[in-house]
Amino acid sequence: MRIDFHSHILPKMDDGSSGTEESIKMLKMLADSKVDRVVLTPHFYRQNENIQTFLERRRRSYERLCEAAETVRGLPEFFLGAEVYFYPSLSSDPDFEKLCIEGTDHILLELPFERFHENFFSDITNFMNRCSKKIILAHAERYLSFGNKPEDIRRICKISRHIICQMNCSAIAEAGIFERNRFAKMISDGMVSVLGTDAHNLDTRPPMFGKAESIIVRKCGQSAFERICRSGESIFRE
Ligand SMILES: [Fe+2]
Repeated sequence: MRIDFHSHILPKMDDGSSGTEESIKMLKMLADSKVDRVVLTPHFYRQNENIQTFLERRRRSYERLCEAAETVRGLPEFFLGAEVYFYPSLSSDPDFEKLCIEGTDHILLELPFERFHENFFSDITNFMNRCSKKIILAHAERYLSFGNKPEDIRRICKISRHIICQMNCSAIAEAGIFERNRFAKMISDGMVSVLGTDAHNLDTRPPMFGKAESIIVRKCGQSAFERICRSGESIFRE
């Protein structure tokens, strides 16, 4: 089963889809790439709003999308989630669990865009010690642009067996040769458990699942892509 674990398709929710028409077209593009399930993960920034306010906004946007999707056939199934920006006290928030991807005990977590220093590793370790949920690191490859190395990402994953990595399809699809080989190695080494399009719109950041799939199959083999599909399915089964 092909699952997109990261998308900004909910209408007028964040810097993603501008309305239901664009959302439906994005879902159709994913259906064309044979994507079966899409997780809707609008940005959640605690510094801007509390969890309850976010969830209420998300519910309204979701209802608009459901209404628009009602008469459209062949769309992927969609599930609610959030792309939660890391803050050290996140796991102490009483509503924290409500940020899990619907039907799972996983939260998509976005880390700061900076070189990870020792304080950050302690913050994440303390967070995981208090965290009752499992973590999917959003666009794990992106942190490499800030001077981090794959070893730094691996170090975060070693903090807990409940941390796994998501890679962006667009990163694989649009990377130059050097970066593409680097990302392919992360997949071949088993560092990447799931994929996400991180699609925001139809033009500048459209869903690129199909293109990423063909590159992964070509560079890492069919079995690597199938492993990713199975690991995504297991998240919904656990
Ligand atoms: Fe995102």
